[in-house]
Amino acid sequence: MSQLAINGGTPVRTAPWPQWPRAETAEHAKELVAEALTSGKWGGDGPMEQEFARRFAEFQRAKHGVCVSSGTTALVAALEAAGIEAGDEVIVPGLTWIATASAVLEVNAVPVFADISRDTFCLDAASAEALVTSRTKVIIPVHLSGATTDMDAIMDLARRHNLLVIEDAAHAHGTLWRCPDGEVRGAGAIGNAGCFSFQASKSLTSGEGGIVIANDEAFADRIWAFKNVGRARKEGGEYVLGHNFRISELQAAVLLAGLECLDGELETRDANGMYLNDRLGALPGIRPARRDPRVVRQAYYGYIFAFEPEVWDGVTRNRFVKGLQAEGIRAAGGWGAPVYGMPYWKVRKERYPFAARYDKTSPDFNPPNCPYSDRFAYEEEVTLPHAMLLGSSDDAEDIARAIEKLWQHRAELAQQPAVSA
Ligand SMILES: Cc1ncc(COP(=O)(O)O)c(C=O)c1O
Repeated sequence: MSQLAINGGTPVRTAPWPQWPRAETAEHAKELVAEALTSGKWGGDGPMEQEFARRFAEFQRAKHGVCVSSGTTALVAALEAAGIEAGDEVIVPGLTWIATASAVLEVNAVPVFADISRDTFCLDAASAEALVTSRTKVIIPVHLSGATTDMDAIMDLARRHNLLVIEDAAHAHGTLWRCPDGEVRGAGAIGNAGCFSFQASKSLTSGEGGIVIANDEAFADRIWAFKNVGRARKEGGEYVLGHNFRISELQAAVLLAGLECLDGELETRDANGMYLNDRLGALPGIRPARRDPRVVRQAYYGYIFAFEPEVWDGVTRNRFVKGLQAEGIRAAGGWGAPVYGMPYWKVRKERYPFAARYDKTSPDFNPPNCPYSDRFAYEEEVTLPHAMLLGSSDDAEDIARAIEKLWQHRAELAQQPAVSA
């Protein structure tokens, strides 16, 4: 008789998982949104937006915050404020959401893909360093899901090559890192700028939205100008050719409500994340992202781990994910491809002449070489949404029990036709 739920057996978990966004936050947001609605000011750098920007920057231990319309526009504004010129090169990891790289294209620069580390699944500093040229201006490390880039190595490399560091912290609201001088800084507040997303699935959300944080006031003012149609923030300040990347007071009201709940949620997710690191790290062929001892608090967009098909006697990652889903675990295989393998990675040389290396029809076509990004994305990556970490340790234990069950019955799991990658 079949044991596995995928074949009709009893699932490990039938109870629902915590919902995201949480009903408690929504209740609290209602009051603040009502306040915004009756304030007579619905947008245009209003008091709630300013209050949120100040409080979020403080939360991440940065001096300044500028709200923008998304994580993508946060990256675009930060790159523009960094003075990127046409054809400049920006190093990004091969494995990230497409926006990290497409934002670089949007400012007419060239994303250069470095590989990710086998331990943290984040940008590998040595791989990045090997790609530095005289055109390189910026490096964008991404704090991926529930992992953290080795920021000391990235900052060291940036210093030696005179590069700016723009942290893509779209997944890292609340991550804290101990710097070499002993100071604890938030993700995004270590480099020159940090870009966050408040899109619906993020762990702090207003449906859509974003923020850039920075410690340098002049840099923050330039970001403000680029998001605010080029206007100067201060009397006598510089005008630029900018965009409308603004948010409304209604979004700021929702974010203020979310921020009040974030500390408690971070604590719960971090405790469950550490529990899973111990439990899953002890299972065969399961490799959670290494939690660096310099991480003081880990934020989670998802919980990520590597699944090693060889150890599982040929069960594929996609088959494993389907098996977990049947057991009631909301697993997924990440984005399923490195950036340059995503179906929307359509770079035409006519539109992006400096990035002709990514156009297959161009004589300059030169595909990126990121072997571990490829391997992780196509064969190993498994992600669990952050809402699954908002329950108790019994909930986290269900995840471990489901994986143990699949391991025990891996021969049965492997018998099914492999799902194409
Ligand atoms: C790593 C990363 N960077 C940037 C973004 C862009 O954020 P947004 O969707 O708010 O534009 C995302 C969104 O998922 C992301 O995952």
